[in-house]
Amino acid sequence: MSTQINTDVLDAAAAALKKTWPDARPKAGLILGSGWGEAVEDFQGLELPYTELPGFGKTGVMGHAGKLLLTEVDGMEVLIFQGRRHWYEGEGWTPVVLPVYLLAAMGADTALLTNASGGIRDDLKPGSLMAISDHINMLGSNPLIGPHNPKLGTRFPDQSEIYRKPLREKLLKAGADSEGVYIATMGPTFETPAEINQYKAIGADAVGMSTAPEAMVANAMGLQVAGLSCVCNWAAGISPVPLTHEDVNQTAAEAMPRMKSTITNFLKALAGDQS
Ligand code: HPA
Repeated sequence: MSTQINTDVLDAAAAALKKTWPDARPKAGLILGSGWGEAVEDFQGLELPYTELPGFGKTGVMGHAGKLLLTEVDGMEVLIFQGRRHWYEGEGWTPVVLPVYLLAAMGADTALLTNASGGIRDDLKPGSLMAISDHINMLGSNPLIGPHNPKLGTRFPDQSEIYRKPLREKLLKAGADSEGVYIATMGPTFETPAEINQYKAIGADAVGMSTAPEAMVANAMGLQVAGLSCVCNWAAGISPVPLTHEDVNQTAAEAMPRMKSTITNFLKALAGDQS
């Protein structure tokens, strides 16, 4: 496994996507993480399984739908990625960052990244929707390591405001309960209670195993980034019961009506800006 992004693979995927949907002009993109798949079940459009594009790797291990959906919200085209790859899957950064690279290649200027997380802050009870205000990268790596590749932005990208304030405001208006700092860990283990204590002390509000890498690359490539987390459990040590992926999915299913309406309202607000 290479620890460096392979832009030849990313460019091949972008070329394949442009060939498949030559008329596509998405303005925004949506990456759906764990538990979020059904949030777009009412959206109609063109579908493409990830297996039709090079670079997504062995999508079978994802536990996600693994397909692209090109849809329209109030006249604005939106490219939706139903499922993401994670660093912990061990196939390197290329499949992880492919969705945001494709968004940039297709001309989109905004990316909404969604995920499931564990709540650390007192008010972030399971079922809460948190607009990500910032992140802490605890992955122990960075997708932009390696020789500088100008296709991925400058050598030292500024990260003062990855999650853009106007988009955060839109998320809050659209239905998110609050804002907070997301800490991204390598996974695939859930955290220990001692780790959660540490993360709390350094300013984290919710913990998960994704999103930060895509956000870093999207930001470096000049996309406006928004992040929305469904807090699906109390983090380890705060939770009175052991953590399971099934419980995470169960909570997401219960929060689904609000997840759906928040995403839809957000996209409508973006479309409104455009018209
Ligand atoms: N920790 C890490 N990732 C997660 C959690 C958690 O508690 N819940 C959902 N994804």
